[in-house]
Amino acid sequence: MLNLRETEKNFLAPHVTEGGVAVDFTMGNGYDTLWLSKMVGQTGTVYAFDIQPEAISRTAERLRSEGAYENYKLICASHHTASEYISEPICAGIFNLGFLPGGDKGITTLRETTLPAVRWAVSALAPKGALLIAVYPGHEEGRLEGEMLQGELSLLSPKEYSVSLLKLINAPDCPFFYLIEKNK
Ligand SMILES: C[S@@+](CC[C@H](N)C(=O)[O-])C[C@H]1O[C@@H](n2cnc3c(N)ncnc32)[C@H](O)[C@@H]1O
Repeated sequence: MLNLRETEKNFLAPHVTEGGVAVDFTMGNGYDTLWLSKMVGQTGTVYAFDIQPEAISRTAERLRSEGAYENYKLICASHHTASEYISEPICAGIFNLGFLPGGDKGITTLRETTLPAVRWAVSALAPKGALLIAVYPGHEEGRLEGEMLQGELSLLSPKEYSVSLLKLINAPDCPFFYLIEKNK
C-alpha cells in the first residue's frame, strides 16, 4: 500500500536546492524540518513554523540529537504570518496539515489560516520551486481543508504552475497530497 510519508518527499526532493531557502509550515515533531535541513545543506536556510511551544521543543531536540546543521530558524507563530519572517524566494515548502501526533488533537490546522498561508507560499516560490501539502481527510476539519484547497489550487494558472494530486481513490479517508510546482 502507498505510504504517503515515504512517497511524498520523492516528489519534492528534485526541487530542493543546496544553499536554498526552504520552509516547514507545520513543524510538529520536526521530521520534515530535519529532512529539509539536510537537503538545503550547511549553506541553506530552513524556516519552520508551529503555534505550539511543544512542537518547537520536540523539533529542537530532534535537530540537536541528529546533529543537524545550524541552518534553521524555529518560529512559534502561525504559518499565515510567514511573510513577516521570510523575504527570500523559497525553493521548497511543506505543509503537513492536521494535529500534532502524540499531542492535543483539538489543536489542528484551520482553513482560515491555512488558506492565506498557502496563498503566500505559492507566491513566494522561486522558479522551479515546489510545495507539498499533505491533507488528512479522516477528521472533519481536514476534509474541509482538502475541499478548500482543491478549489483554490485548481485555479492556479497552468502557464505558471503545475498542480498534481496523489490520492488513493478507493480509500477516501486516507491522507493525500498536492504537489505545486512553479514552472519557471
Ligand atoms: C501533522 S503535524 C506536522 C507534522 C510535522 N511536519 C512532522 O514532521 O512531524 C501538524 C502541525 O501543525 C501545527 N499547526 C496547527 N495550526 C498551525 C498554524 N496555524 N501554523 C503553524 N502550525 C500549525 C500543529 O500544532 C501540528 O504540530
